[in-house]
Amino acid sequence: MRLEMMTSAAVERYLGDCPGLIVPVGATEQHGPDALIGTDHLCAEAIARRCGREHDILVAPTLAYGMSQFHLGFPGTMSLRPSTLTAVALDLICSLAATGFTRIYFFNGHGGNVAPIRCAVQEYYAARSMAGAATPTPVHCRLKSWWEMPGADALRRELYGAQEGYHATPSEVAVTLAACPDAIAPFNRPPPAVSTGDILMHAGDNYYDAADFRRRYPDGRVISHSALATREAGDRLIALASADLAVDFRAFCGAE
Ligand code: NI
Repeated sequence: MRLEMMTSAAVERYLGDCPGLIVPVGATEQHGPDALIGTDHLCAEAIARRCGREHDILVAPTLAYGMSQFHLGFPGTMSLRPSTLTAVALDLICSLAATGFTRIYFFNGHGGNVAPIRCAVQEYYAARSMAGAATPTPVHCRLKSWWEMPGADALRRELYGAQEGYHATPSEVAVTLAACPDAIAPFNRPPPAVSTGDILMHAGDNYYDAADFRRRYPDGRVISHSALATREAGDRLIALASADLAVDFRAFCGAE
């Protein structure tokens, strides 16, 4: 069920049965020499829409721009500042809360979005707390990234091990190959080597600026061997992740 394809009256009826929806969030940023600039939002969107279709769960339009400042050394990247993404996410939370939603599930495809969206959620609660709201908020937010879904996480480790890497991963490329028939499979170019210390320093998309990123990772990837991606693996990842997303979403909606 896609929000943008429904009427407001239909959304009102949906709210009578279910208090929540999924908001896919991603990025528009370089993904190395072989993979799509839209990879992060295409992955979150494909999995969320499959979940919505198969389990009658409402899915909002995808937020296709994220916090990607460290990729701005590569053309095609379009980033929001961290503060901008926080402001956008906060406005979406406030809009949904004002119109009757009490469970908002952000389904993420880009590590750089995690801190700004968590910040938005806390801004929403802080406004209530500091205003001295006397009753607990009914509005709960959850943020999870698609690769945290247990079945997909296990499969990507099994298929790719250390070659999964951190950016332009074969698992995310596989999902785009399955979701986008026009996407071209990556070539057989292995990723450049990166030191273990460098990885520990920057884990979780905790990079410095764009010029520093391009100097450290000149081909845009961080270890990931994108060419291991296949459509078949992408189909399996989408099926596993969308099934786990449905379970987690229902538990989230039912939790106090
Ligand atoms: Ni990505």
